[in-house]
Amino acid sequence: MLHDPNRVYVFDTTLRDGEQVPGCQLTTPEKIEIARELEALGVDIIEAGFPASSPGDFQSVVEIAKAVNNPTICALTRAHKGDIDAAVEALKYAKHPRIHTGIGSSDMHIKTKFNSTREEILERAVDAVKYAKKSVEDIEFYAEDAGRADIEYLAKMVEAVIAAGATVVNIPDTNGYCLPDQYGSKIRFLKENVKNIDKAIISVHCHNDLGLATANSIAGLQNGARQVEGTINGIGERAGNTSIEEVVMILKTHQVLGLHTNINTQSFYELSRLISSQMRMPVQPNKAIVGSNAFAHSSGIHQDGFLKNRENYEIIRPEDVGFPSATIVLTARSGRHALKFHLDRLGHNLNKEELAVAYQNFLKLADNKLNLDDNDLLTLVAHRLVKQ
Ligand code: KIV
Ligand code: ZN
Repeated sequence: MLHDPNRVYVFDTTLRDGEQVPGCQLTTPEKIEIARELEALGVDIIEAGFPASSPGDFQSVVEIAKAVNNPTICALTRAHKGDIDAAVEALKYAKHPRIHTGIGSSDMHIKTKFNSTREEILERAVDAVKYAKKSVEDIEFYAEDAGRADIEYLAKMVEAVIAAGATVVNIPDTNGYCLPDQYGSKIRFLKENVKNIDKAIISVHCHNDLGLATANSIAGLQNGARQVEGTINGIGERAGNTSIEEVVMILKTHQVLGLHTNINTQSFYELSRLISSQMRMPVQPNKAIVGSNAFAHSSGIHQDGFLKNRENYEIIRPEDVGFPSATIVLTARSGRHALKFHLDRLGHNLNKEELAVAYQNFLKLADNKLNLDDNDLLTLVAHRLVKQ
């Protein structure tokens, strides 16, 4: 089969990087339910856990591997034989297993986390890939803290692990440090300078410490990466990971980028709610794509423009992400077009004079009440019913 050069593989780590957030821990049945939904969403790879980290995580990887058929099931390890053995064992029922092993690549990590040298770390990286490759064909290597790593050293490491058998090379901006053009240039440098880079897929894995995770992921894809890692709702360590729904909808909205995924975007909203409730992690109302206000129009100027042509204020159709529908929220900032829209919906087609009176009464009410509902609107026009 010919490989489509514009296809972006979606690697979901909600159950690993997302689940390691304090308070977000899930039971194995909850993880299985989410994994099945991720399969329905169309993700290509599910990172199911870190089997060596605990017996519970080990068992979850085993059960997810049994429950899911199409996506690749991936297990995280450090560059330790024991971790890799645990991952191999946990993945034994996976139809498409992948081991995700790696080690720090920045001088900061090499010196202060591993108390080691660049040469020794390179050797450990290669050894880990070779060892994992003996049991599993599909090996992803992560160069932790690549966002702050020296680019020549990173390139050397990437070349060595590909030669050792890595099929995917993950270039994480572990600390969410990079600017989009810096991160994009890093990926471009690897693409252009690592001589065996065509034997592997470059993956982007960005954290959101400066709010740049999505922008950095897109910059990586624009510069040659073809796998993106992230989580639903952007949950993850500290400020979180790249939000998968954002990246996928950016690629869909900006078709000029020429990149596409296999994701059924209509499932985003429901999956976002499921993950939020199971992980006890509320979604901020203004969260892009899946926040409760993502398709709510509340100011008079916007409402007027939206009612004339929804595309004036809607670059994504709510139905494309499974969102119930766009809403025209009535507040004291709403105009009379929005009030008319709702009164029409309730079966009250007011003439110009009636609407002017209703609008003045509406403004008085809205100044004193935060959330206006249909009952409030019906009260505004109750006198019409008496007259009729
Ligand atoms: O952020 C990171 O560097 C990671 C690696 C373990 C892939 O999550
Ligand atoms: Zn991470």
